[in-house]
Amino acid sequence: MKKFSVVIAGGGSTFTPGIVMMLLDNQDRFPLRKLTLYDNDGKRQGILGDALAILLRENAPEIEFKHTTDPEEAFTDTDFCMAHIRVGKYAMRELDEKIPLKYGVIGQETCGPGGIAYGMRSITGMLEIIDYMERYSKDCWMLNYSNPASIVAEACRVLRPEAKVLNICDMPVGTLRRMSQIIGKTPKELDVRYFGLNHFGWWTSVKDKEGNEYLEDIKSYVSEHGYLTQIEVDTQHTDPSWQKTHKKAKDLLAINPRYLPNTYLKYYLYPDDEVAHANCSFTRANEVMEGREKTVFDAAKEIVRKGTAVGSGFHIDAHASFIVDLARAIAYNTHERMLMIVENNGAISNFPDDAMVEVPCIVGSGGPEPLSQGRIPDFEKTLMYQQLMVEKMVVEAYVEKSYLKLWQALTLSKTIPSAGVAKALLDDLIEANKDFWPELS
Ligand code: NAD
Ligand code: G6P
Ligand code: MN
Repeated sequence: MKKFSVVIAGGGSTFTPGIVMMLLDNQDRFPLRKLTLYDNDGKRQGILGDALAILLRENAPEIEFKHTTDPEEAFTDTDFCMAHIRVGKYAMRELDEKIPLKYGVIGQETCGPGGIAYGMRSITGMLEIIDYMERYSKDCWMLNYSNPASIVAEACRVLRPEAKVLNICDMPVGTLRRMSQIIGKTPKELDVRYFGLNHFGWWTSVKDKEGNEYLEDIKSYVSEHGYLTQIEVDTQHTDPSWQKTHKKAKDLLAINPRYLPNTYLKYYLYPDDEVAHANCSFTRANEVMEGREKTVFDAAKEIVRKGTAVGSGFHIDAHASFIVDLARAIAYNTHERMLMIVENNGAISNFPDDAMVEVPCIVGSGGPEPLSQGRIPDFEKTLMYQQLMVEKMVVEAYVEKSYLKLWQALTLSKTIPSAGVAKALLDDLIEANKDFWPELS
């Protein structure tokens, strides 16, 4: 059986240990010969890399493991690049969240002005790793879940149209797990229909393999509890702020009772409520730095101190196994049905062909083939079109280094009340991002 070589780009990510453990747990489905961590911050990655070297030596000595900041070493002889970089790290995420709040505007990692600022940073980092991948391993596929996925996907479409990059998000995966629990099934027993942009979409159907439809059953649960379930099945989205988010789906369903909403719609449909309950001095970035980041890095240091990973604080990120499903779909032509972020080209028949949309696809060794979702209603289409133009204009602003285009993109965002607020925000964001953004004029 062929064994694969994988590079994890953004090796210093808080998700790296969980994903490595998940890969080890999946050796029967997706065997590895080589695993490499790559990051441009060697110090951060080194903490996790040294710990994972011990863990691999103890559990899978047959897999060649290394961590490096040298792109040539990292990307040579690789079959898959799993990419989860965060350009600017948590320090910049914190600013993305806090600067907008000063103006009474949503401060969020991927939505509104924070997502736009992050997008302007991510494009450069993503192009860099795509180019390394193509230079050193031309047949390699990138499985990308670096954010903001919509803007990153649009930038790839425009700037690297031929690159073998697959853009995917775990939010629908986590929410489907919750839905499956609500109706007493497992996610693998269900097929969905869905349309939207990344972090901006709706489920129109949830069926089992016999064709029984569960949409109404799930809606009736969500109308009372949102996606909050009794037992935690979606292991990634469990902090108190996430519980609030799952619950809020109830209000998202109320305004649009036809379909089941993606939780991220709350930032567009109830921004006033979100801002009113936000703590300007302690946002999600702070929660993550004090929570996940600290736990993961402390566990790594402990492994190195003890010289063993036996009884360590690293845990398998079972939630991330969809990444193996995706890699297997490419490697073994499995025709797995998955939600992917792809160029529309008619999948949503009354939406622009060149929009990067999130829809179910059949994934095989040639990549994803989108499934037709037909026509969508005006309410959703109008919201999506406005957001689509924001994302497209951000990429145009990046390419043209245009201040005006970025100001217009911010003004178009449903999260921002006026051109005046957009301009003040933009000037603050330019200052904060001067080490990362192209210079605008
Ligand atoms: P993190 O800050 O812990 O890790 C990101 C790593 O990327 C850091 O070690 C950083 O040094 C590195 N990095 C930054 N720029 C780089 C570059 N140009 N080249 C190489 N490495 C670079 O962040 P995290 O919270 O673990 O999240 C990682 C990423 O995964 C983020 O983009 C996050 O939004 C994304 N994410 C996506 C999904 C999804 O479903 N799409 C789910 C979870 C996380
Ligand atoms: C979900 C989204 C990701 C996002 C993550 C943020 O999984 O799909 O795109 O990056 O949440 O999680 P965090 O725990 O870092 O706030
Ligand atoms: Mn996502």
